Amino acid sequence: MANHYDVAIIGSGPAGYVSAIRCAQLGLKTVCIEEVANQNKAALGGTCLNVGCVPSKALLESSLIFSNTNHNLKDHGIEVSEVSLDVNAMHLRKDKIVSSLTKGVSGLFKLNKVDTVQGKAYISDPHTIKVSTEGSDLNIRAENIILATGSRPIELLDYPFDEEFLFSSNGALKFSEVPNRIAVIGAGAIGLELGSVWARLGSEITIYEALTDFLPNADDSISKEALKIFQQQGLNIKLGTEIESLEVIDNQVEVKASNDEVSNLQVDKVIFAVGRNPTSKGLFDPALGIQIDDKEFVVVDEHCQTQVPNIYAIGDLVRGPMLAHKASEEGIMVAERIAGRNYSLNYKNIPFVIYTHPEIAWAGYSEKSALEEGIQVEVGTFPFQANARALTSNESTGFVKVVVNQEDDSIMGVHALGPSAADVVQQGLIAMESKVTAKELGSVMFSHPTVSEALHEAVLSAKGNAIHLNNRKKK
Ligand code: NAI
Repeated sequence: MANHYDVAIIGSGPAGYVSAIRCAQLGLKTVCIEEVANQNKAALGGTCLNVGCVPSKALLESSLIFSNTNHNLKDHGIEVSEVSLDVNAMHLRKDKIVSSLTKGVSGLFKLNKVDTVQGKAYISDPHTIKVSTEGSDLNIRAENIILATGSRPIELLDYPFDEEFLFSSNGALKFSEVPNRIAVIGAGAIGLELGSVWARLGSEITIYEALTDFLPNADDSISKEALKIFQQQGLNIKLGTEIESLEVIDNQVEVKASNDEVSNLQVDKVIFAVGRNPTSKGLFDPALGIQIDDKEFVVVDEHCQTQVPNIYAIGDLVRGPMLAHKASEEGIMVAERIAGRNYSLNYKNIPFVIYTHPEIAWAGYSEKSALEEGIQVEVGTFPFQANARALTSNESTGFVKVVVNQEDDSIMGVHALGPSAADVVQQGLIAMESKVTAKELGSVMFSHPTVSEALHEAVLSAKGNAIHLNNRKKK
């Protein structure tokens, strides 16, 4: 029967499309259903490719080049004059990258023989999905169903997005000119990344954060140093600040915040970056018994199975951090399990990256979280200031920090603020997953000169053996 599949996947973001490809590779007849349409076809790629990770990184790169050209070339002996900005060209480059990647997903679907259906899906019984498209409805039968509908920006009740003055993170990727002043609400990954883009292009940025702690999930020493650097870069980050009112007056937004004792701020635009909510409503018949928790996440076990054994949920829709790589790995795990293989994920070792400049990344335990669990740790740090490659690139801000278990010498956490932080942490994470001890990682040969040497030296410094550092601990 044409509409009968081994697996039907609802959603084509990094959770859904990766899962679809893996299912097909494992010999399962697979269909991916996507609600968003582009020229009557399913627009594949989800938030990450279309309005998230990819376009934001494209703008982060362009804005960094602009800012470096304006401010950081003199040191290299390069003089430039009359640097100008074409925001439209910047967006065109971004859109081209998005289009090439989304076309790539379509191509991969064709190669792997994954069928695509555009429309809104609704699970009416454990094996039936009704798909509504403009003008017609379709029933799809499937042995297994994977929900991968992702998340959407949180909209505060009093301030709905109008995408003219009050912007979601989607709209904030599309400003046609550089605003003079922007207020960003929320100092998480999105607030910091979008704030950085527009600050580098010339906007005055004020970030309002309700919490008194900056990046509370990062290691304390990293958050403290990062806050200092971002303030120096001109991001005015106001911690412990609640928004009391936002009022549009004469094409400006007046921001009244809890501890603005001097005056209210007038801005051209407000960007909301206060988190994301899972897209879990209206996906299935409540009589099926699939549970949704009080934060709107679909309830699943450690293998992403819902209460209905042949229905799974993955990615931003379920517990855990809303990260593309976590979503994709869950997609692969579920595909493998549907194909009858034993497959689990290690949720303890999820890498986190914030693509500011300097970049912030971490995986595993922070020093504080290890101590809170009563684990005795040795800590090693190494500053990029003493790393030759970082110095030659004028990228010597920040450091690498490793957390090592005193008892068995296992590496429990890796943290970095600085050049290629994500890649440095990824190397540490490979060591952690492979159960390589600190002593063993310390005896690995690292190429010179590379920023990765900072990881090597940080591990050595946990033992008091770093070479390019006055070790605090002597051995
Ligand atoms: P987030 O949860 O990371 O940060 C939101 C921040 O807003 C929090 O610090 C919160 O305290 C603050 N906040 C909430 N309500 C507020 C209010 N009324 N006034 C002031 N502050 C308020 O959420 P974000 O940055 O929106 O990102 C959403 C999701 O997307 C996150 O799970 C994040 O991990 C993920 N993401 C990851 C990226 C990355 O890995 N580089 C990039 C972008 C998003």
